[in-house]
Amino acid sequence: MIGIIGAMDIEVENIKALLSDITTETVSGVDFVKGKFGQKDVVVAKCGVGKVFSALCTEAMILKYKPKVIINVGVAGCLTPELKIGDIVIADKVVQHDMDTSPLGDPIGMLSDINIVHIPTDKDVTALLEESVKSAGFDFRTGTIASGDQFIADKEKKDFIKSNFGAISCEMEGGSIGHVCYVNNVPFAVLRAMSDGADDGANMDFPTFCKMAAENEISVIKNFLSRI
Ligand code: ADE
Repeated sequence: MIGIIGAMDIEVENIKALLSDITTETVSGVDFVKGKFGQKDVVVAKCGVGKVFSALCTEAMILKYKPKVIINVGVAGCLTPELKIGDIVIADKVVQHDMDTSPLGDPIGMLSDINIVHIPTDKDVTALLEESVKSAGFDFRTGTIASGDQFIADKEKKDFIKSNFGAISCEMEGGSIGHVCYVNNVPFAVLRAMSDGADDGANMDFPTFCKMAAENEISVIKNFLSRI
């Protein structure tokens, strides 16, 4: 079983539409749509925005469907001048930029108890996503994706995330999905299409380009599902 999680309907509806033999089950308030992509079993969920919704969805998906891998998909803010709106970022690791116990002497972003800042994504699945992006014809970079319960739309916060974590993209779920996968020992990966520059214009760019970016993300995932 391959698990796919996105925060908003626009990020997953057209993935659900690719599946046959669909059944829907609701667990912890999340609708899990299970079906077939060719011979492959796939479960897709819209988790809602932010780290708590995405964490509870990931845990429910793991307990109920025992996926061999979870892919977090969607749109994101771009933190690198090397990419533009519509391009793709694939995570080789995720961080939570709003996790901060540094007044106690910890590194900023350190996840208490597991005591790491960056959580690596699965190497093989990440490599397969890279092949899928190339085949789909999009420009992309692989690097750190930073998550937090904030829509980033100003230079100061953007610079904070770039300089503290070396992140090339920011969003609101990948870090928590990775966190839950890490403690459950489930391989995970994150693929995002850039909807805005996480700067002063992001509040205008996000609604303007979200649909186009989500379509790019979904065409990569379609390519990926045919390869995995
Ligand atoms: N998702 C898309 N754009 C984003 C941004 N600028 N900040 C956080 N999450 C996002």
